[in-house]
Parts: sequence; structure tokens; C-alpha cells
Amino acid sequence: MNEQEAAIELERLAKEIARHNRLYHGEDAPEISDAEYDSLVRRNAELEADFPHLVREDSPSRQVGAAPAAHLSKVRHAVPMLSLDNAFADEEVADFVGRVRRYLNLAEEAEVALTAEPKIDGLSCSLRYEKGVLVLAATRGDGTTGEVVTDNVRTISDIPERLAGEVPDVFEIRGEVYMSKADFAALNARLLEQAEDPAKARQFANPRNAAAGSLRQKDASVTASRPLRFYAHGWGQASALPADTQLGVMKAIARWGVPIAEDLERFTDQVGMLAHYRAIEAKRADLPFDIDGVVYKVDRLDWQERLGFVSRAPRWAVAHKFPAEKAETLLESIDIQVGRTGKLTPVARLKPVSVGGVTVTNATLHNKDEIERLGVRVGDRVLIQRAGDVIPQVLENLTPGDDRPAYLFPTHCPECGSDAIREEGEVDVRCTGGLICPAQRVERLRHFVSRHALDIEGLGITHIESFFRDGLLQSPADIFKLTKEQLLARERWAEISAANLIAAIDARRRPPLDRFLYALGIRHVGEVTARDLARRYRSWEAFQAMIDSALALRQDMQPAIGEEERKFLQRRNKAVVEAVGTPNIGPEVANALLDFFEEPHNREVIDEILAAGVEVEDVVHKVRESPVTGKTIVFTGSLEALSRDEAKAQAEALGARTADSVSAKTGLVVAGPGAGSKLRKAQELGIEVLDEAGWLALVAASQ
Ligand code: IVH
Repeated sequence: MNEQEAAIELERLAKEIARHNRLYHGEDAPEISDAEYDSLVRRNAELEADFPHLVREDSPSRQVGAAPAAHLSKVRHAVPMLSLDNAFADEEVADFVGRVRRYLNLAEEAEVALTAEPKIDGLSCSLRYEKGVLVLAATRGDGTTGEVVTDNVRTISDIPERLAGEVPDVFEIRGEVYMSKADFAALNARLLEQAEDPAKARQFANPRNAAAGSLRQKDASVTASRPLRFYAHGWGQASALPADTQLGVMKAIARWGVPIAEDLERFTDQVGMLAHYRAIEAKRADLPFDIDGVVYKVDRLDWQERLGFVSRAPRWAVAHKFPAEKAETLLESIDIQVGRTGKLTPVARLKPVSVGGVTVTNATLHNKDEIERLGVRVGDRVLIQRAGDVIPQVLENLTPGDDRPAYLFPTHCPECGSDAIREEGEVDVRCTGGLICPAQRVERLRHFVSRHALDIEGLGITHIESFFRDGLLQSPADIFKLTKEQLLARERWAEISAANLIAAIDARRRPPLDRFLYALGIRHVGEVTARDLARRYRSWEAFQAMIDSALALRQDMQPAIGEEERKFLQRRNKAVVEAVGTPNIGPEVANALLDFFEEPHNREVIDEILAAGVEVEDVVHKVRESPVTGKTIVFTGSLEALSRDEAKAQAEALGARTADSVSAKTGLVVAGPGAGSKLRKAQELGIEVLDEAGWLALVAASQ
């Protein structure tokens, strides 16, 4: 791209991004997905990095923060803030390094240098410096959009207002805001002292919550009175980088005057890395702050770039967590919760106990078998464990069996009284009440609006329960029929709150296909599966067409004469999996999908949602235009510089599809050494063939 083209493109991007900012912040009516927005911002940043003298006055990279919100205003991150995958055992760390090698197509013995540093249990925060001056600070939020906490952050003494020395024009330092254990204890003591009624004093459960509560204050003078600290562990948008390794950039950040972890080191072998992990674990209790593991990151930044990320976590980093912490307490009672699919889950109510700094009052008992295995009864002492963010678990019953009778698992749903049964081969006891069971219906509604489903802000469980009780909400479609007048007629609803909820609902009338599929709450269809399906079918219509034909096929299949049932089921499963035709979806999920759509009631609910004006949005790939956009590519033979996964990811980023077999529909074949029948077939059909070098040149030319 030449200078003139870059200038035109930058102008277009500035206008386009400004328009989307207005739609998003001002009108609450975004037209594009967060991912698409991010790719515009990224494109702008990339161009600005290449042509720094063309940065415009009105460039989006100069505009920070936007419009108002009630409490803290929100801002889109120029580069999303990711989370991390976890590893627990040493082998999982070795697996991680193995995956990195395979993805980069490195030899088994090739050296992969990694940095290792503690994982502080705090709250991640992005600090944007422009020409070395702090202009914006934002919390992670949902990773795409965070809350603006600039004034609050200015009160933290670890965070300089101005960076020292030579600094790129734009540099976002990312790290963790945290509170030391001692300061946390002192803060709680102070809050207790200052409370008018000590019994009602507000206390923070752990240093992490204290840090979050202190930072996210409307009034920055409150933050100023709280002893918060900061350490950097990475960066976001950067107009230039001071080094080409993770360690190099971190050291530059330290030179600029922002603290980094004391224990940050670089290793070229896993033995050293694991020894570092053990050393940090050994001094964990003596450290002045809470840590919950060690984070490893691929040191070479060009490799980080190639590795990229999946879902919300980078392929180039992993958090090696410390083992779960344990404690003993009293089991005060066992409650039964009824889930969205009718599953009865026993929950242990515990005498409050602190486990590694967190007060625990509930733990899951999973299911009936687990209660029997543990032999727990109300009144027993139990050993519990908490690992990271997962729900605490009961590990062991410490009261040996005495004469007290065993716990009796209910045979009826505690919510609707229907029979609760356990089907052959299943571990869970389920309420058979289906849609007459209020608990199941409420849970479905709750799931439908939840953050990773339709994400309707302001429609929390309290509202759902009360609307449900009063008949205002019976099924998801009713959400889209709610009116402001209905809300205003209720107690404690006023003009603004009613208008806000209606606006939040309206903003979700065009859900993306993956969120919609996930929101339906189909058994076994979690976020990842929903995304796989959406990526494969792209539109609700295409997805429906697949379901209808797969259902017809499944219904029509009959066992052949004399065929054993097992053989028949295998054959049918194979056909169903093929009909659903989506990578990673096996027989269990495929059948669950069809079961869901076979149920007339589920169809009715969906029809009703669509009739209420919901339009499911097609998947539009945010792709670079390239000579292969829209084509199907087949990779065959062995590749040398790339792994198959990386090659496929490159193809998808250029808007192409990949397939395993060559047909008339194939648009391009990339053949490495050893290619055989697929290459021959491509030649017969006259399909374009490239070698790996040719492919890499095409990718490079499309950047
Ligand atoms: S790296 C793209 N390094 O842990 C990589 N994160 O569980 C993202 N965290 O959201 C972060 N210490 O808030 C990184 N040394 C460290 C960290 C760290 C704490 C937090 C961070 C992240 C979360 C993921």
C-alpha cells in the first residue's frame, strides 16, 4: 500500500469508527459485532504504525473513552483483553509447549524460550499512554469493553502519570491492580471500626474483591484512600515495540517506571521453568500478596503473533495454577437446586470457612452418587477444596459413619412435586415436570438472557423471578413483548429504569447466530459448540435446513433385517454425525440437537421468538479480501514452515474455507512433498495448485 492509499484508508477508518462509536455509545444500537469493531480499530492501528506521519487529528486512536453511563463509563479496548488457559499438572505444561511446537511446526527438540512470572490475584487493567502521558485507564470488563477508571488509577502510586525515557507514541500497558494481604486486613478492620452498626459493616471477602471494589468507585477520592498497587504483565495497542521478545518489552516497561513482577525470568528448558514454579510456590504464603499460579509466555513476539489466540485465550501463554486449597468445616444442610434441564443438584450449605483467603459457604455435591460415595449427612464435618474460580467441592467426609441414617435423595422435584427419576445409564436425577416445573422455566429464561447468550443487561434473576411469578414472562418470546407501560405499572419501576430495560431488550433483537443457538439451552450445546455450528452454517435458515433434513434422515432409518441394535445405532450415529457435518460434533451432541428440534414445543418457542420480531443475524466473517476469499482450499502432503493448523487458520483469515478432499468445488490445492492422490485429482480437474512457498507468498501479499 502506498502513502496516498494509506491516507485515504485512514480517513475512511476514522469516519467509520466514529460512526460505530456513536451507534454503540450514543444510541445503544451497534450495527457490527465487537469483533468486527476491533478489527477496524486494529486495522487503523496497523496502518498508523506503518505510516506514523499520517496519523490524523481525528484518528480513533486519539479519541479515548466515550459517552456516559450511570456509574462508570465504558470504553472498547483497542486490542481485546484476553484471559488465560489453565494447566494444573506438570504434564499439562509439557503439553502446552508441545502444542506450541506443533503449531509452529518446530522440531521436537527445538528450543522454545518462555518467560515465567507469578499470577497475581487482582483485577486486570489497561493503561493507555500517549506520548508517554497517561490518558486512559480501563478495567478488563468483558474483554472487549471495559470501564473507564482513569481518575481512580491516577491515585495509585505505582502508576506514573508520565513514563520515563523514550516511549512509543501510543503504548497500552496492561497489568494487575491488587491489594496486599496486610492492607486488605487493615482495610477490613477500618471498615468495621467506622461502621455505625458493626453487625452490618461492609467487609471484603478477599484482597481481590477489595481491590476491585476500591478501584471501581465513582468517587476517585475513595480509591485514593485505599492502598492499591499495580504490576505490569503485558501490553495492548502499541504504535511500536521496544523489543522483539516478551522479556525485552517487559524490561522496557520497567525502565519507563512501571513495576513488573520481581520473579519474572526467562527459561529455555522446562526443568528450569518448573523449578521456578516450585520455588515461587514454596514462598507463596510469605509473599505480601495473593498469587494463584505462574504464567508462562512464549518469549519470541513473532511466534506470539503467529500463534494468535483461540476463543478468549492466547495460544502462546498458559497459567500453571497452584493446587487447590483445602479446609475443614461443618455441613449444615443439603439443598437441592433444579437446573434448566431439570437436573437436581445437591448443594452443601457450610458453616462459613476461609479457604486460601476466600470465605466459602456453599459447595457442590454434584449428584446422588457423589453423596453416597462420600457418605455425607447433615451435621458431618467435611473437607472442602477450592481451586480458582470453580465452585468449591466437598472432598471427604471427616465424620466416620455412626448410627445416624444416610441422607435420602429426594424422589420428587422440590419445586414442582413431579417425579424425579434417573434414567438408565445416567448419573443425574431429573425432574420429569418439564415445562410445568417453574424452576426449569425460570432457569431457561435466566440462561436465555445471560451474558454469553443474548446478554440482556438489567434483566437479572430477581426480575425474571418476579415477572415469571406475575405471568409477565413465561417463555423467552415474552421478553420481546414487554412494554414500558407494563413495567411502569409495577412497583419500584420508574420512567428511566423502564426505558433502560426496554432499550436493552431492543438492542438484542438481532442476536448473532452463535449466541442465539447457545441461548436456546440445547443439551450439550455450549458456547463452543454453538460457535462451531454458526461458523459452519452461517445463517439461521441454512442451519434449520440442515436440522430438517437430518431429522428426516434419522426418522427414516430402520434397522436392516437381522441387524443387531448396537450395529444399527452405530450406523445411525454415523449418519447423524455426517448430516450435522460440523467439525468436533460427535454422535452425542448431534443426537441432542435433533432431539431438541424434534420436540414440537421447542419449535413453538422458537417460532414465537421469531414472530416477536427477533432476527437472527448471519455470521459475517471479518476477513481480509484476498484472491482466495470464498474459495475452498485443500492442503495435502507435508508442510515444512507451517503446521496444518496454522495453514488452515491463515486460510480462514483470508476468507477461505478448508476441506480434506478434492472435488470440483475445490478452488485451490496447496501441495507439499509426498502429496499423492489429491494432487493428481486436482491436476485432472484443472484446479490451481501451489506449493508451500507459493502459499506463503500469497498470504504475505494479502496482508
Ligand atoms: S497475561 C494475553 N500475566 O489473569 C494474556 N495475566 O486468568 C493475558 N493475571 O486476565 C494476561 N497475573 O488479569 C497475565 N502475570 C500475568 C498475570 C495475569 C495475573 C490475570 C489477568 C488475566 C487473568 C487470566
